[in-house]
Amino acid sequence: MIQRNSGRKADELRPMSAKVGVVPNADGSAMFSFGDTVAIAAVYGPRQLHPQHMQDPSTGILRVNYDLLSFSVYDRKKPGPSRRSQEISKVTQWALEPVLDLKEFPNTVIDVQIYILQADAGTRTAGINAASLALAHAGIPMKNLVCSVALGKLDQDIVADLDKSEEDFEGGEGPTDFPIAKIGTGNDFSLLQLDGKIQPERVKEIISLADVTCKQIYEVQKKALKEAFQ
Ligand code: CDP
Repeated sequence: MIQRNSGRKADELRPMSAKVGVVPNADGSAMFSFGDTVAIAAVYGPRQLHPQHMQDPSTGILRVNYDLLSFSVYDRKKPGPSRRSQEISKVTQWALEPVLDLKEFPNTVIDVQIYILQADAGTRTAGINAASLALAHAGIPMKNLVCSVALGKLDQDIVADLDKSEEDFEGGEGPTDFPIAKIGTGNDFSLLQLDGKIQPERVKEIISLADVTCKQIYEVQKKALKEAFQ
């Protein structure tokens, strides 16, 4: 078994923290962190979509914008959109849509703004967790919360919640990054991505680890929502 830099066990998540209602002017907002990765999400809407010709009388739309702030990483990141931020915005939208009933809000848009204040890998997953909480905080009817985490493989070992030093690991078979999102504590996934390589039979181990870790994330999210509404 590989020794993790942080001393964590293979299936151990970084310390998580979640808080709802961090952006007073938004309709809903939340912060979610995995260790040094900190995401905030703000939700605006549902509100009339402009320009009007983009409105769809049969449904509302979910519009996600993910942004990694310039000083969230060691090498300052050039401000503004990139291919990476576009990809992450899109997969985040797809990860969240299954829990929403957008047909309830024809002609409208729900805007979700995700900002990564500090990045130490796993930012898309922290962003999805924050966005899921912010949507709930905005009072938008949801079938469930969405719980997300980056699982993966370091050399031969299946591990949970890779940090940046682990994503950059160069020993043995190298790192595999496998971000997932699940609908609450059920069986359904709304995000499966793979960066690296993994044998098909080992994907089962990832799926089991997703079950265990998402339950822990769900509890942290539920607690944050309860605190906000008490
Ligand atoms: O953040 P996530 O793991 O979801 O996505 P990634 O594209 O695999 O990025 C991994 C990590 O690389 C980020 O979390 C950042 O810590 C780092 N990164 C960076 O230092 N500079 C960038 N321009 C983009 C990412």
